Amino acid sequence: MSVLGADAPELDLEGHSFVVRGPSALRGTVGVSGAKNSVLKLMAATLLAEGRFRISNVPRITDVGLMAELLRAVGCEVAVNSPGAAGAADGFSSSATDTGGSLVIDVPAQIEPVAPRNIVDRFRASIVVLGPMLTRCGEAVVALPGGDDFGPRPIDMHLQGLARLGVESETVDGYVHARAQELRGATVRLDFPSVGATENLLMAAVRAAGTTVIDNAAREPEVVDLCEFLVKMGARIVGAGSSTLTIEGVEDIGRFGSADHCVVGDRIVAATYLTAVGIASGEITVSGVNPDHLAVFRGKLADMGMEITVDDRSISAAVSSRLRSAKFSTLPYPGVATDLKPLLVALLATADGVGSVTENLFAERFRYVDDLRAMGADIRIDSHHVVIEGSERLSAAEVKAHDIRAGAALVIAGLGAQGRTVVSNAHHVARGYDDLAAKLRSLGADVSLSRS
Ligand code: UD1
Repeated sequence: MSVLGADAPELDLEGHSFVVRGPSALRGTVGVSGAKNSVLKLMAATLLAEGRFRISNVPRITDVGLMAELLRAVGCEVAVNSPGAAGAADGFSSSATDTGGSLVIDVPAQIEPVAPRNIVDRFRASIVVLGPMLTRCGEAVVALPGGDDFGPRPIDMHLQGLARLGVESETVDGYVHARAQELRGATVRLDFPSVGATENLLMAAVRAAGTTVIDNAAREPEVVDLCEFLVKMGARIVGAGSSTLTIEGVEDIGRFGSADHCVVGDRIVAATYLTAVGIASGEITVSGVNPDHLAVFRGKLADMGMEITVDDRSISAAVSSRLRSAKFSTLPYPGVATDLKPLLVALLATADGVGSVTENLFAERFRYVDDLRAMGADIRIDSHHVVIEGSERLSAAEVKAHDIRAGAALVIAGLGAQGRTVVSNAHHVARGYDDLAAKLRSLGADVSLSRS
């Protein structure tokens, strides 16, 4: 068994670049493992109770190592089995369809409800330890989160919602200090279906006195996955996947404890491979994802000319000629995810005609645009709209990943470009993609990693 964390050099792509030699068509099957945006929340949720938690289908990504570091700082023991070694420890084996690794988290009777800046700063999802820490200890000190480089990411909705449950908080020197004499159920109406605020509120509500209703809650599959995990731990939640979540507080800690769970497949990673075949052409199957989680996105790709068929847990896509352009709008689930935006811009940069992507969630996600322009893409930004005139073929260039998805977008743009594209700052991509280079190679692409 290997233990992930700062001590996981095989994942650390600091100082590495992706080298892509294009163009090359893609063929074959690629498996996606569990969703980053779920597993990090499940890990945080384990803080709610003493016990042993076993999570399977865990992606090999650096953010999992960071959350493991955070849990250890709080007092937990965290061990990770790499793919292929599942079952080697603790008699735990993951299901046959899992493609990821597994985690075993031992949560002690006492935890230290402090999330230090040196860890929290490095990834956005860290803020979701706030809710579980408040439930467990009645107080929490959490550094304000870092994460991707695309503009401000406030937590006002988290704090306002928690205030309705009886939490007092203040921010001092970049730390949120939160305290609750007693968590009390309440009705919280979110101004916007924020994923993180919904998750923090869920985890603050599961053991509160009385009933909590979260109105205008986020409906993302990763929120549903968290609800399922919480229910396995002993929570009483109705409405997962809808806009109204009703949580009946379970005050008896004796009824709350250990759980095992298999992480929901990563729809964003699956969409990345579909976008890749849209740019590179060819025929691929992406397995390990629920096709329903990409229903709107799949529909758009089909409109563009991609031939798509689905199975229970896989999506197959064939592209034999240049796709037609399209208009995309990013929206909360079930809309097209904002995370996909750079990938869509890359896709439209090679499609036939003029297309656009309208961003409706985050203010600034544009730094990758200059890199795509360096590859010959014709892109114009007009407020929160990106307008793209497709060109038949992009050209290779030396570019830089600024965040997880932007980096992935540049790598897949390289698949459709003539020549050798180098994408530096590969470590950003490793935060959210499990072996992107190796998986693209398994589909026949010429992608490798080199020291910058
Ligand atoms: C999560 C995902 C991220 C995804 C996003 C939207 C994780 C780790 N990250 O981020 O990949 O792009 O959902 O699907 O799961 N907002 C506020 N105040 C708040 C909270 C949010 O104004 O208190 C705003 C944000 O600035 C943004 C919008 O609400 O404009 C959506 O944010 P939210 O859904 O909370 O995203 P995250 O949970 O941070």
